[in-house]
Amino acid sequence: MKVSFKVNGKSETVEVSADTPLLWVLRDTLGYTGTKFGCGKALCGACTVHLNGRAVRSCQTQIGSIAGADVTTIEGLGGNHKVQRAWEALDVPQCGYCQPGQMMSASALLSTNKNPSDEDIDAFMSGNLCRCGTYPRIRAAIKAAAKMS
Ligand code: FES
Ligand code: FES
Repeated sequence: MKVSFKVNGKSETVEVSADTPLLWVLRDTLGYTGTKFGCGKALCGACTVHLNGRAVRSCQTQIGSIAGADVTTIEGLGGNHKVQRAWEALDVPQCGYCQPGQMMSASALLSTNKNPSDEDIDAFMSGNLCRCGTYPRIRAAIKAAAKMS
């Protein structure tokens, strides 16, 4: 089927089967390789993107369900988003693999909660795993980003 939607503000139309995961379309069809494949089962958060402003797991989002939607990937944060500036300032990544998903979840959290507590952060970010254990720096970076404009 043909599906039209927006990625990072740009209109895109793809022709794939309706049950194709959004993650496949982003990476393989459209070349947005910043979004990562981890588990493919909604267990790790590496594939997190924004769908109409909400954090979703793109590995479990079928392309046929998102016609007309606005998708934002890590490329769409633009490089100067406060989350990206905080991540850089606090040297958050270790191997880096999970970090696009972490930043997409963090930016979604801050769009609805301007001053999240430790508990808010832990609850919202609990679906984003980091095998390198960067959780303390992620939490500190979210708090730093919350203070940035
Ligand atoms: S790849 Fe989607 S949650 Fe792990
Ligand atoms: S930085 Fe390596 S998995 Fe998170």
